[in-house]
Amino acid sequence: MVLHRVWEKVSVMGVIRIRTKIPGPKSTALIRVRNESVSHATFGAIPIFVKRAQGARVEDVDGNSFIDFTGGLGANNVGHCNPRVVKAVKAQADRVLHTDFSVTMYESYVRLARALCKAAPGKSEKKAMFFNSGAEAVENALKVARYNTGRPGIICLENAFHGRTNMLLTLTSKFYPYKKGFGPYAEEVYRLEFPDVYRRPEHLSEKEFVDYHIEQAKEFFVDNTSESNTACLVMEPVQGEGGFNIPPKKWVQFLYRHCRENGVLFISDEVQTGFGRTGKMWGIEHFEIEPDIVTMAKSIAGGLPLGAVVARKHLMDHVHVSGLGTTFGGNPLACAAGVAVLEEFRQKKLLRRAQEIGKITLKRFKEWEECSPIVGNARGIGAMNAIELVKDKESKEPNKEAVGKIIKYCYERGVLLLSAGMHGQVIRTLMPLVITREELAEGLDVLEEAVFRMGGKK
Ligand SMILES: Cc1ncc(COP(=O)(O)O)c(C=O)c1O
Repeated sequence: MVLHRVWEKVSVMGVIRIRTKIPGPKSTALIRVRNESVSHATFGAIPIFVKRAQGARVEDVDGNSFIDFTGGLGANNVGHCNPRVVKAVKAQADRVLHTDFSVTMYESYVRLARALCKAAPGKSEKKAMFFNSGAEAVENALKVARYNTGRPGIICLENAFHGRTNMLLTLTSKFYPYKKGFGPYAEEVYRLEFPDVYRRPEHLSEKEFVDYHIEQAKEFFVDNTSESNTACLVMEPVQGEGGFNIPPKKWVQFLYRHCRENGVLFISDEVQTGFGRTGKMWGIEHFEIEPDIVTMAKSIAGGLPLGAVVARKHLMDHVHVSGLGTTFGGNPLACAAGVAVLEEFRQKKLLRRAQEIGKITLKRFKEWEECSPIVGNARGIGAMNAIELVKDKESKEPNKEAVGKIIKYCYERGVLLLSAGMHGQVIRTLMPLVITREELAEGLDVLEEAVFRMGGKK
């Protein structure tokens, strides 16, 4: 609370306060401990240790204050330490921490399940089940699809990222760092080409390019696998780790129709696009289709670990009793937090906020696309926006080096950002949706300065 008041005062003058070199002395000391005791396989994109965080603001152990455009990798859409979530978690902690829902049940689980079934895309009746993470949710969605169809095949997309279990690494496109050395991978996974409109051949119009990809998708079911061998097609409505790539609506609608006509289940992986990130509750709503199965995680519980599968009722109920489960999935604290998250969306009108953030951010990004020689493409839906950096705009050669420099420049000046993309060539924004206009403007100013310092002006 004290922190909140201090920040309110500071926000008149701006939020960012950088008092030390980054990392500061206390973070540096903790990084030493980390290097001694934590596997370096975890990575650490930004070299600070966080002391506390609220809304879109993060304070490190050295007293530096940052604006957070990473939102806990998309898990903090309702903001860090959202007061409604914290209150719900505290109240739940006083009553029961854990039982395992498959042993003895508790109310927060069923309340959240009911709320998510209502909130899920489409009108058909749904049922839900909870797991520990996004990966576990997707893994279980695939099990539900195979069980219901009796077919083995899974179709995923080029640039996809769905998690880090063995099956999901099979679905994931990017080899390094995700897949290197961890194979062999699972069988019966087929990868469909993604229509990257920005990188399409020059001689094709956008419409021609999309039509070409629709024909390619038809061929795919001849060349690679048949519909009768395929349990499901799984896609992110907007690709997250793959670079915030937005698929053409006509192509997605074709894939959906083709799946429905052939008994192939359509899974929308909403782990990153869900909970308002794209300005609608679910990314797939932009494509006006009702997926058979939806996977959720990240922002579902305001920062607590939780994953969910929500699917058409008959699909969920077809699986035999005790066929799906996990000890901690749908933990009472996480479910109580999830109920509070949905309430926060209603009370604070966070979908509208996401749209406003998107308008402001994408307008700035489009200006940079015009004026900066290294911003090849600016894109986004709602508050899911990105700039793709290139070495030159003709060749569109990915510019990972500039991404690294810009991210470093920004965190040293008080803005936390992450990269994405198959070549690490994309800077993405995942700021909490409760970010204020002033914080957003201040953060974008720093990013703009970095972009033009690194890349110059046209
Ligand atoms: C679209 C998508 N699916 C699944 C996952 C895996 O989620 P988790 O890291 O919670 O296992 C991620 C994580 O970034 C994701 O972006």
